Amino acid sequence: MPEQQTFKLDSKTIPFRDGDTIMDAALRAGEYIPHLCHNPEFTPHGSCRVCVVSANGRHVSACTQQAMNDMEVDNRSDAIMDKRRNLLQMLFVEGNHVCPGCEKSGACQLQAVAYYTNMLSPHYTHFFPKRSVDASHADIAIDFNRCILCELCVRASRDVDRKNIFSISGRGIKARLVINSDTGKLGDSDLTATDKAVHVCPVGAILPKHRGYDKPIGERLYDRQPVSQVGDVAAHDEDDNHG
Ligand code: SF4
Ligand code: FES
Repeated sequence: MPEQQTFKLDSKTIPFRDGDTIMDAALRAGEYIPHLCHNPEFTPHGSCRVCVVSANGRHVSACTQQAMNDMEVDNRSDAIMDKRRNLLQMLFVEGNHVCPGCEKSGACQLQAVAYYTNMLSPHYTHFFPKRSVDASHADIAIDFNRCILCELCVRASRDVDRKNIFSISGRGIKARLVINSDTGKLGDSDLTATDKAVHVCPVGAILPKHRGYDKPIGERLYDRQPVSQVGDVAAHDEDDNHG
């Protein structure tokens, strides 16, 4: 029998299989590495960089870096946490994330990961970008102010729903999520409330209508337990997935 391959995540020995990323192996072993654009159901995307770790002294994204035998991975040092906080602060100022007024507050992965990394202020000056809300669909609304461009809806719509309703237009600071319909409006697309793409958003950008604020603040998913223990919001049922 071939010898089990392992790497060290902080002080813990993590077994892995051929083809595993650091993230795959860590999550399977019950070890949390902060992440936003990663969802084990989809091909890794490597865009948010919140999963940054130091592997043999080099900064890499845990969701895209293949695991290697005897690798030493730092997931918890102050330097790594600092880097993540910095990336999160950028995400907060690039959009308009008004947590106290957002119905996803308490069930939002961006907010939960920010708490996990002890992010206490946005640090940078807010961009306050001019973005819109599209409420043209009968059952689903999208608030572009909260989109972090993780492309999970893009991947879900393309790879699972086979509809290609979402895509990213532009690059860098000009990148934005667009709706592929004749008018660019959600209401003129084929999106339905049961589509996978409607249930993967880690923030409060894509939301079902008719049910906001069902669960009181204080009783929501990440109000009860930290993200390191309960994991991705998209992995939970409807009751926990929304505010
Ligand atoms: Fe990600 Fe949500 Fe934006 Fe789609 S709408 S790219 S799932 S943050
Ligand atoms: Fe790895 Fe986003 S979770 S880059």
